[in-house]
Order: sequence, then C-alpha cells, then structure tokens
Amino acid sequence: MYQWTPHSIRLLRDASEYSDYYKKLAERISVYLWSGVRICDAGCGLGYLSLELAKYAASVTAIDRSEKALEVLSENIQKLKISNITLRSGNIFKCPPTSRYDAMVFCFFGNTEESLAIVREQCEGKAILIKKDYDEHRFSIGPHLLHHYSFEKTCCDLDEKKICYQKERFSLHFGQPFHSLEDAVLFFQTYSQDDHPERIDEDMVKHKLIEDPSGKYSYYLPSEKRLGLIVLDSEDIPDEFSIHEKTIDT
Ligand SMILES: C[S@@+](CC[C@H](N)C(=O)[O-])C[C@H]1O[C@@H](n2cnc3c(N)ncnc32)[C@H](O)[C@@H]1O
Repeated sequence: MYQWTPHSIRLLRDASEYSDYYKKLAERISVYLWSGVRICDAGCGLGYLSLELAKYAASVTAIDRSEKALEVLSENIQKLKISNITLRSGNIFKCPPTSRYDAMVFCFFGNTEESLAIVREQCEGKAILIKKDYDEHRFSIGPHLLHHYSFEKTCCDLDEKKICYQKERFSLHFGQPFHSLEDAVLFFQTYSQDDHPERIDEDMVKHKLIEDPSGKYSYYLPSEKRLGLIVLDSEDIPDEFSIHEKTIDT
C-alpha cells in the first residue's frame, strides 16, 4: 500500500516543482480530452497532475485517501488561485460522484481490474491510464524487476478481455534534485527495492548524480521515465467488472 511520509512528500514536491514533467504529461493527456470535460484524477497524490489538467477541463475532481497528500494540493490551489479543482478525501471505491465523470485519469494508480470497475461505475466517457513502461526498478542499486501494473501487463489484460483501447508510448524527463549528498542517500534508501537499503551509502549513489544545472540545489539525479498511455471508453467495459468491498493497494 502506498504510504506518504513527510520525507516522501518533500522529495516528490521538490522534483515536481523543479521540472515540467506534469505539464508535459497533461499535454499528452489533453489530446484525448474535449472542451467542457469534467475529469476525475483518481489517486491524485500530491495533485501536480490535477493542477495541470485543470487547464484543459471545466472541472477536476482530485481524489486521494491520503489527507497529507491532499494538503499539498490544497496549498497549491490557494497559491495559484485555481477555481476548478475539487478535493475529495477517501477511498475512491466508496466515493462515487453524484453525476458520472466525463473522463477519469489513473496515473500510477490501481491494477486493470480495479480501474475498469471504477470507470464502469463512475465514468460515462473516457478512461486514461498512465503506466510505467519499464521493467527495471529505477531507484535500486542492484537490478530489480518490476512486473506489477506495467504498460505491457495492462495491454495484455485488456487484450485478454477483448476490450478496445488506444495506446501510445513516450518518455518524459523527471529528475530529482537534492540539497545534499545525505539527502540523495536517504532518497535511495527510501525508494530502493534492494534487500538492505540501510546499507546504501554515499559512494554507491555519488556516481549517479550530477551538479544541479539550475544552481538551486547541490545535486541532481537525471532520470528519463518511459511511460505508456492507454485510452478506453467506459461503454466498452463488460458488466463483469464491478466494485466489490476492497481497497486498492498501489
Ligand atoms: C503511486 S501514487 C500516484 C499519485 C499520482 N497519481 C501521481 O502520479 O503522482 C498512488 C496514490 O493513490 C492513492 N490511493 C491508493 N489507494 C486509494 C484508494 N482506494 N482511494 C483513493 N486513493 C488511493 C495513494 O494515497 C497515492 O497517493
């Protein structure tokens, strides 16, 4: 289950505000949207994608079960004076909208079955799924394979169920800035899937870092993120997909 901590919030906040990753991701998604669309950003996390999607939508409902994550979005909404984002805190399975959304975005949130069940119940238009399109965990020192919820796996699931979809692959730069080498070590210790993350030290991470090009931070971890985007219509989802008493474990 995804758990936000003050440390992980600070790191992602730094990275999100440093780069144009979410702006570019929203640009990609916007190709599939239309004027006046009412979107839900499902499992929005800190909400940096919601902020960018709001530029293309009549309204964005940003839902997450983490109040701590939503606090960051709430601060940014006030700071940027954005008026078309509504925050909803809670389990999305239990938060159906009063009137179904036109489109739902699932960015690194949920497996295929869970997303389809939510879309079938809560959306009358398009679902846009953003998935990892790589197999190796990016922030482990040793090699660690990812199988969960990848782009390939999701496409296979949809093919198996004979559900029509459009897909595209692209990559976006999403690096991580650090104020100190210590901070970089903490980052790898937090995100690595190595057996003994506590053994990660400065020597293991130093060669991965460059001097921060912006000069605002001390170090920078360059990282290209390969992504897959899947678009499908709610009406193409068969009846067998429905919401049961369960929670998403992302
Ligand atoms: C991997 S993060 C992705 C965050 C964001 N979409 C992004 O790409 O930056 C998954 C998010 O889903 C939220 N989440 C997990 N299960 C949930 C549920 N059942 N209902 C609402 N939010 C949920 C977590 O709190 C977390 O913020």
